[in-house]
Amino acid sequence: MAIEFRGYRPDDLPTLKHIMVEAFEGVSIDQGIELEFGPINNHDWRWRKARHLDDDVARDRDGIIVAVDGDQILGFVSTWLDREAGLGHIPNISIVPEARGHGLGRQLLHLALQRFRDAGLTHAKIETLAQNQIGNHLYQAVGFRPVAQQVHFVAEL
Ligand SMILES: CC(C)(COP(=O)(O)OP(=O)(O)OC[C@H]1O[C@@H](n2cnc3c(N)ncnc32)[C@H](O)[C@@H]1OP(=O)(O)O)[C@@H](O)C(=O)NCCC(=O)NCCS
Repeated sequence: MAIEFRGYRPDDLPTLKHIMVEAFEGVSIDQGIELEFGPINNHDWRWRKARHLDDDVARDRDGIIVAVDGDQILGFVSTWLDREAGLGHIPNISIVPEARGHGLGRQLLHLALQRFRDAGLTHAKIETLAQNQIGNHLYQAVGFRPVAQQVHFVAEL
């Protein structure tokens, strides 16, 4: 594979959503909600998860780094800059199944962290679910330290 990294293009959106929704199977808060309550308002968890990427694009489309092998998109990381706080955020990272486990996620994270450094930020933030073993390993491997654990609650109205 001849992997290259490039910026986000608007016509990437459906593919990135597809990659992200597939990648978050088993490690998604939205899926956890669905397992407990079923679909909500006629939308399944995949629909809700895919919308997160709309948020990422709206917040900082230049912060999305796309990994490609020729015409094929292999994965992406989304980032945004909180300059006032000095914090860089990484809301989403996803790789296609066949490209996982070869260091691409680590490379995308390093590019995200470099973007933050280049912008003069001093710290970076990322989240993962407790059951996401790869995330828990990889994020600490690139320098993140765990600072808090959270429980998400949902109630029927
Ligand atoms: C998480 C993800 C983006 C990482 O990308 P990747 O290209 O697979 O990651 P890398 O190959 O760079 O690194 C994976 C690391 O996890 C390790 N790993 C793999 N399976 C693991 C497991 N079950 N438990 C712990 N560590 C594991 C690998 O050994 C490697 O670490 P190392 O380089 O120190 O040996 C990708 O696997 C993915 O899309 N997963 C599904 C979606 C997801 O979980 N997204 C993040 C949600 S917060």
